Amino acid sequence: MAGMAQPLIRPALPSDAPAWRSLWRGYCEFYGTNVPDQVTSRTWARILDPDSGTMCIVAEVDGQVYGFANCVIHENTWELQPVCYLEDLFVVPSARGKGLGRALIEWLHNAMRAEGWSRLYWSTREDNAHARRLYDRFTQADGFVRYVLKQK
Ligand SMILES: CC(C)(COP(=O)(O)OP(=O)(O)OC[C@H]1O[C@@H](n2cnc3c(N)ncnc32)[C@H](O)[C@@H]1OP(=O)(O)O)[C@@H](O)C(=O)NCCC(=O)NCCS
Repeated sequence: MAGMAQPLIRPALPSDAPAWRSLWRGYCEFYGTNVPDQVTSRTWARILDPDSGTMCIVAEVDGQVYGFANCVIHENTWELQPVCYLEDLFVVPSARGKGLGRALIEWLHNAMRAEGWSRLYWSTREDNAHARRLYDRFTQADGFVRYVLKQK
Protein backbone atom coordinates (compact mmCIF):
# COMPACT_ATOMS: atom_id res chain seq x y z
CA MET A 1 0.00 0.00 0.00
CA ALA A 2 1.97 2.97 -1.29
CA GLY A 3 2.68 5.76 1.18
CA MET A 4 0.81 4.20 4.09
CA ALA A 5 1.62 1.54 6.67
CA GLN A 6 -0.48 -1.62 6.79
CA PRO A 7 -3.86 -0.77 8.34
CA LEU A 8 -5.15 -2.37 11.51
CA ILE A 9 -8.83 -3.25 11.15
CA ARG A 10 -10.54 -3.76 14.50
CA PRO A 11 -13.88 -3.33 16.28
CA ALA A 12 -14.48 0.20 17.56
CA LEU A 13 -13.65 0.90 21.22
CA PRO A 14 -15.14 3.48 23.60
CA SER A 15 -11.95 5.55 23.13
CA ASP A 16 -12.75 5.85 19.39
CA ALA A 17 -15.71 8.13 20.15
CA PRO A 18 -14.12 11.38 18.85
CA ALA A 19 -12.73 9.69 15.71
CA TRP A 20 -16.01 7.90 15.04
CA ARG A 21 -18.00 11.13 15.41
CA SER A 22 -15.64 12.91 13.04
CA LEU A 23 -15.99 10.13 10.43
CA TRP A 24 -19.75 10.13 10.94
CA ARG A 25 -19.86 13.88 10.28
CA GLY A 26 -17.86 13.38 7.09
CA TYR A 27 -20.15 10.57 6.00
CA CYS A 28 -23.29 12.62 6.67
CA GLU A 29 -21.79 15.54 4.74
CA PHE A 30 -21.03 13.20 1.85
CA TYR A 31 -24.72 12.30 1.74
CA GLY A 32 -25.81 15.90 2.36
CA THR A 33 -27.79 14.87 5.45
CA ASN A 34 -28.01 16.36 8.88
CA VAL A 35 -28.47 13.55 11.38
CA PRO A 36 -29.79 14.81 14.73
CA ASP A 37 -27.24 14.52 17.53
CA GLN A 38 -29.66 12.36 19.50
CA VAL A 39 -29.57 9.78 16.70
CA THR A 40 -25.78 9.95 16.41
CA SER A 41 -25.42 9.38 20.15
CA ARG A 42 -27.81 6.45 20.10
CA THR A 43 -26.05 4.85 17.13
CA TRP A 44 -22.70 5.14 18.92
CA ALA A 45 -24.21 3.71 22.11
CA ARG A 46 -25.59 0.74 20.15
CA ILE A 47 -22.21 0.13 18.55
CA LEU A 48 -20.67 -0.21 22.00
CA ASP A 49 -23.53 -2.34 23.34
CA PRO A 50 -22.64 -6.04 22.94
CA ASP A 51 -26.35 -6.93 23.05
CA SER A 52 -27.11 -4.79 20.01
CA GLY A 53 -26.85 -6.03 16.42
CA THR A 54 -25.21 -2.74 15.46
CA MET A 55 -21.44 -2.94 15.19
CA CYS A 56 -18.55 -0.89 13.85
CA ILE A 57 -15.04 -1.65 12.70
CA VAL A 58 -12.40 1.00 12.15
CA ALA A 59 -9.30 1.27 9.96
CA GLU A 60 -6.33 2.48 11.97
CA VAL A 61 -2.90 3.42 10.64
CA ASP A 62 -0.10 4.46 12.98
CA GLY A 63 -2.56 4.89 15.84
CA GLN A 64 -4.91 7.11 13.88
CA VAL A 65 -8.37 6.12 12.65
CA TYR A 66 -9.05 6.94 8.97
CA GLY A 67 -12.16 4.97 8.14
CA PHE A 68 -15.09 2.98 9.46
CA ALA A 69 -17.77 0.49 8.55
CA ASN A 70 -21.02 0.50 10.52
CA CYS A 71 -23.03 -2.71 10.20
CA VAL A 72 -26.26 -4.21 11.45
CA ILE A 73 -26.45 -7.96 12.04
CA HIS A 74 -30.03 -9.11 11.70
CA GLU A 75 -32.31 -12.10 11.30
CA ASN A 76 -33.68 -12.99 7.91
CA THR A 77 -36.52 -15.04 6.51
CA TRP A 78 -34.45 -17.03 4.01
CA GLU A 79 -31.87 -18.75 6.14
CA LEU A 80 -31.34 -19.88 9.70
CA GLN A 81 -28.22 -17.77 10.16
CA PRO A 82 -28.20 -14.01 10.62
CA VAL A 83 -26.99 -11.71 7.86
CA CYS A 84 -24.73 -8.66 8.00
CA TYR A 85 -25.86 -5.40 6.46
CA LEU A 86 -22.99 -3.02 5.79
CA GLU A 87 -24.85 0.24 6.26
CA ASP A 88 -22.14 2.92 6.27
CA LEU A 89 -18.64 2.81 4.78
CA PHE A 90 -16.42 5.87 4.90
CA VAL A 91 -12.73 6.73 4.53
CA VAL A 92 -11.46 10.29 5.02
CA PRO A 93 -10.74 11.92 1.64
CA SER A 94 -6.99 12.25 2.32
CA ALA A 95 -6.64 8.48 2.87
CA ARG A 96 -8.68 7.24 -0.08
CA GLY A 97 -7.32 5.03 -2.82
CA LYS A 98 -4.87 3.32 -0.45
CA GLY A 99 -6.81 0.15 0.24
CA LEU A 100 -8.57 1.03 3.52
CA GLY A 101 -12.05 0.58 2.08
CA ARG A 102 -11.04 -2.78 0.68
CA ALA A 103 -9.46 -3.82 4.00
CA LEU A 104 -12.66 -2.97 5.89
CA ILE A 105 -14.80 -5.09 3.55
CA GLU A 106 -12.27 -7.94 3.63
CA TRP A 107 -12.39 -7.94 7.44
CA LEU A 108 -16.19 -8.29 7.27
CA HIS A 109 -15.87 -11.02 4.66
CA ASN A 110 -13.64 -13.01 7.03
CA ALA A 111 -15.95 -12.27 9.97
CA MET A 112 -18.84 -13.65 7.94
CA ARG A 113 -17.22 -17.09 7.99
CA ALA A 114 -16.10 -16.80 11.62
CA GLU A 115 -19.44 -15.53 12.92
CA GLY A 116 -21.64 -17.71 10.72
CA TRP A 117 -23.48 -14.91 8.92
CA SER A 118 -25.01 -16.34 5.78
CA ARG A 119 -24.60 -13.11 3.83
CA LEU A 120 -22.80 -9.78 3.84
CA TYR A 121 -24.65 -7.24 1.72
CA TRP A 122 -24.76 -3.55 1.00
CA SER A 123 -26.05 -1.05 -1.54
CA THR A 124 -24.84 2.21 -2.97
CA ARG A 125 -25.97 4.89 -5.36
CA GLU A 126 -25.82 3.78 -8.94
CA ASP A 127 -23.58 6.73 -9.83
CA ASN A 128 -21.10 6.30 -6.94
CA ALA A 129 -18.32 5.34 -9.35
CA HIS A 130 -15.50 5.27 -6.81
CA ALA A 131 -17.35 3.03 -4.38
CA ARG A 132 -18.58 0.78 -7.16
CA ARG A 133 -15.09 0.30 -8.54
CA LEU A 134 -14.15 -1.08 -5.15
CA TYR A 135 -17.32 -3.15 -4.75
CA ASP A 136 -17.07 -4.67 -8.23
CA ARG A 137 -13.81 -6.28 -7.11
CA PHE A 138 -15.75 -8.34 -4.57
CA THR A 139 -18.81 -9.30 -6.56
CA GLN A 140 -21.23 -8.09 -9.21
CA ALA A 141 -24.22 -5.96 -8.23
CA ASP A 142 -27.22 -8.29 -8.12
CA GLY A 143 -29.67 -6.15 -10.06
CA PHE A 144 -32.11 -5.45 -7.23
CA VAL A 145 -33.55 -1.92 -7.10
CA ARG A 146 -34.36 -0.18 -3.81
CA TYR A 147 -37.74 1.44 -2.99
CA VAL A 148 -38.11 3.72 0.02
CA LEU A 149 -41.20 5.29 1.60
CA LYS A 150 -40.64 7.97 4.18
CA GLN A 151 -42.77 9.11 7.06
CA LYS A 152 -42.15 12.78 6.23
C1 LIG B 1 -15.96 4.34 -1.06
C2 LIG B 1 -14.80 4.51 -0.09
C3 LIG B 1 -15.19 3.99 1.27
C4 LIG B 1 -13.62 3.69 -0.65
O1 LIG B 1 -12.56 3.78 0.28
P1 LIG B 1 -11.03 3.72 -0.20
O2 LIG B 1 -10.20 3.50 0.99
O3 LIG B 1 -10.71 4.86 -1.07
O4 LIG B 1 -11.06 2.38 -1.09
P2 LIG B 1 -9.82 1.57 -1.66
O5 LIG B 1 -8.60 2.39 -1.64
O6 LIG B 1 -9.77 0.27 -0.93
O7 LIG B 1 -10.29 1.26 -3.14
C5 LIG B 1 -10.73 2.31 -3.97
C6 LIG B 1 -10.58 2.04 -5.44
O8 LIG B 1 -10.38 3.28 -6.11
C7 LIG B 1 -9.01 3.37 -6.61
N1 LIG B 1 -8.35 4.68 -6.53
C8 LIG B 1 -7.27 5.02 -7.19
N2 LIG B 1 -6.93 6.28 -6.93
C9 LIG B 1 -7.77 6.76 -6.07
C10 LIG B 1 -7.92 8.00 -5.40
N3 LIG B 1 -7.09 9.03 -5.59
N4 LIG B 1 -8.90 8.14 -4.56
C11 LIG B 1 -9.73 7.13 -4.35
N5 LIG B 1 -9.63 5.94 -4.95
C12 LIG B 1 -8.69 5.73 -5.80
C13 LIG B 1 -8.34 2.35 -5.78
O9 LIG B 1 -7.14 1.97 -6.41
C14 LIG B 1 -9.37 1.24 -5.76
O10 LIG B 1 -9.61 0.72 -7.02
P3 LIG B 1 -8.83 -0.53 -7.60
O11 LIG B 1 -9.10 -1.65 -6.66
O12 LIG B 1 -9.45 -0.71 -8.93
O13 LIG B 1 -7.39 -0.15 -7.64
C15 LIG B 1 -14.34 5.99 0.01
O14 LIG B 1 -14.07 6.48 -1.26
C16 LIG B 1 -15.37 6.90 0.65
O15 LIG B 1 -15.43 7.04 1.87
N6 LIG B 1 -16.20 7.56 -0.20
C17 LIG B 1 -17.22 8.47 0.30
C18 LIG B 1 -18.34 7.74 1.02
C19 LIG B 1 -18.91 6.63 0.18
O16 LIG B 1 -19.11 6.73 -1.02
N7 LIG B 1 -19.18 5.53 0.87
C20 LIG B 1 -19.80 4.37 0.28
C21 LIG B 1 -21.24 4.61 0.23
S1 LIG B 1 -22.14 3.11 0.13
